[in-house]
Amino acid sequence: MSKVNALLKGTLDWVDERFPLTANWKAHLSEYYAPKNFNFWYFFGSLALLVLVIQIVTGIFLVMHFKPDASLNASGVPVAFASVEYIMRDVPWGWLIRYMHSTGASAFFVVVYMHMFRGLLYGSYRKPRELIWIFGMLIFLCLMAEAFFGYLLPWGQMSFWGAQVIVNLFSAIPLIGPDLSIWLRGDFVVGDSTLNRFFSFHVIAVPLVLLGLVAAHILALHEVGSNNPDGVEIKKKKDANGIPLDGIPFHPYYTLKDIVGVIVFLMAFSVIVFFMPEFGGYFLEYNNFFPADPLQTPLHIAPVWYFTPYYSILRAVTYPLFGIDAKFWGVVAMGASTLIIAFLPWLDRSPVKSIRYRGPLFKGFLAAFLVSFFILGYLGVLAPTPARTLVSQICSVIYFGFFLLMPIYSSLDKCQPEPDRVTTK
Ligand code: HEM
Repeated sequence: MSKVNALLKGTLDWVDERFPLTANWKAHLSEYYAPKNFNFWYFFGSLALLVLVIQIVTGIFLVMHFKPDASLNASGVPVAFASVEYIMRDVPWGWLIRYMHSTGASAFFVVVYMHMFRGLLYGSYRKPRELIWIFGMLIFLCLMAEAFFGYLLPWGQMSFWGAQVIVNLFSAIPLIGPDLSIWLRGDFVVGDSTLNRFFSFHVIAVPLVLLGLVAAHILALHEVGSNNPDGVEIKKKKDANGIPLDGIPFHPYYTLKDIVGVIVFLMAFSVIVFFMPEFGGYFLEYNNFFPADPLQTPLHIAPVWYFTPYYSILRAVTYPLFGIDAKFWGVVAMGASTLIIAFLPWLDRSPVKSIRYRGPLFKGFLAAFLVSFFILGYLGVLAPTPARTLVSQICSVIYFGFFLLMPIYSSLDKCQPEPDRVTTK
């Protein structure tokens, strides 16, 4: 053994006696056996981790120059808005950091929606992975809160009016609503105290919870092991050493494979950051290039694309019920449309997990759900008309039908038998 190697080994031994470094490396990487048939859909977990890191690193640099202050500067522009302009024009590489962060927000949702859809395709939420799914749903809720709080910070017209619309929704709750919305804003209108508290939540409170949840998500995954495109439990068939016959060590096989996903992702990400950071008004809305003006309501207020399916569901409810305003029931429907996803592990009664072995009923319902989700998303960016409201009502019924009828159609479905071992299709 060369002197350098001996020194390295000595150092590692010294650390291992004091901290389980090698033990953790083995448990989570070199001796963590993942199914050998992972496909394209399995890139998105590691990509979500990558985007999380991008958001935290770029966020740290943005906070160095951003000022959460709604008062007007000497030129009559809100200080927060002006500080973002300063980042874009005067801070060296500030434009790059800011565009990476704003594109990262949309990229996060693209990646996480793909990651969740993979769960639907392969039944990854089913026993014994219910807790992975629950942690995932909590991550998803935190992510939505994080995006909502962050969107107010540049203090543009959409930041201001978007927050105004969403916080006002709480005023629809009977009895406590009006007081609740004042309490949330810290003022009678969205103002400086709202900006300060949203800043505090965006930079510290929510990210801390998010990081904790991501750690719990991965620990839960490593406890039970990954599902795979066949939905077969690889731990059921092990060799004499207790290693799953269909498993391969995560490192080096999947660490290397995930790098391919990272490269392709970074290529697409760079094209957007460098050539189309507004992405046609979908990633950065045009109205947000104007400073917030409490005296001038934009003609059309729409949330960013990742919220629009739920926003459409909110607007689809147009009838009052039990003497309570339709707005309240809209809020209830919107909340239910996100929370219901958490119940999938208990709604799905199919004997198989993967779409590969499911019958036509599940496939049909899944296709209808997907189409209605996209239509709801599209309608959410447009101003409502009677025809659009009708379409969003139909799509909302399909959306909820997919979940609520699942116990029935998933148990009636004609499934094919699941194989014993994974296939390498
Ligand atoms: C910050 C967001 C998230 C991060 C960083 C993350 C990270 C990961 C990673 C690294 C894996 C293992 C690799 C893989 O299977 O792709 C994984 C698996 C999984 N995640 Fe997430 N995740 C996130 C959000 C979510 C959400 C929102 C859900 C669903 C509500 C979810 C559900 C799952 C499930 C069910 C698995 C197991 C998949 C299987 O074994 O087939 N995750 N996650």
